[in-house]
Amino acid sequence: MLTPDLSPAARSPLELSEDELFTLSEHGYFIRDGWHTALAMQAHGEAMQLMEADDLSEAGVSRAAVARQSERFRGDRITWLDQDTTAPALRALWRHFTTLQDDLSQAFRICLDRFEMQLAIYPAPNRGYVRHVDAFRDQSSRRLTTILYLNPTWDAAWGGQLRMYLPDGTTRDIEPVAGRLLTFLSEELEHEVLPTTQDRVAVTAWYRGPELVF
Ligand code: OGA
Ligand code: NI
Repeated sequence: MLTPDLSPAARSPLELSEDELFTLSEHGYFIRDGWHTALAMQAHGEAMQLMEADDLSEAGVSRAAVARQSERFRGDRITWLDQDTTAPALRALWRHFTTLQDDLSQAFRICLDRFEMQLAIYPAPNRGYVRHVDAFRDQSSRRLTTILYLNPTWDAAWGGQLRMYLPDGTTRDIEPVAGRLLTFLSEELEHEVLPTTQDRVAVTAWYRGPELVF
């Protein structure tokens, strides 16, 4: 059983270590644990309430024309988050993701100037989300995807890992435990959500701006 790291590692602003910068430029992602973990767990409770109140929509796959078929590709239910989100922990996370936009801009010396942010729940049992990239080169200004997982605990046996397909041909599975922050190149990193036997909750932001050059 994986329990989140509640130590003061929840440092903000985000200063990227050598290691994080290396994995981002070399493999297209980095992971930071212990990012606003307590808030993430609180937001988990709010998300479950939203789901119980039936306040979430079935996730679409971008274009309306394929929305009805999206069920085949992804099994999550979503809502968009912004400054008007009423659930306090989710609204606080939206604010932290606003700050993170500046931190990431600084770290990569680019100007990320806008983002959209989504709460996604994969209600159990769930088949996950098939292998995909989040943005297509030349068709989008989505540059970085950042996911914060909200689940208070996670057991590998439950499934629900994010599987990343790395440029060197290997894969890496990430367990969706609260406080774990994952950032990857939206146009590069293929990934999928494995089937899960437990409800699985995350927030995701897509940061937009000019192309990234390493
Ligand atoms: C997505 C996605 C991954 C995850 O929403 O595009 O790939 O781990 N989510 O929730
Ligand atoms: Ni994705």
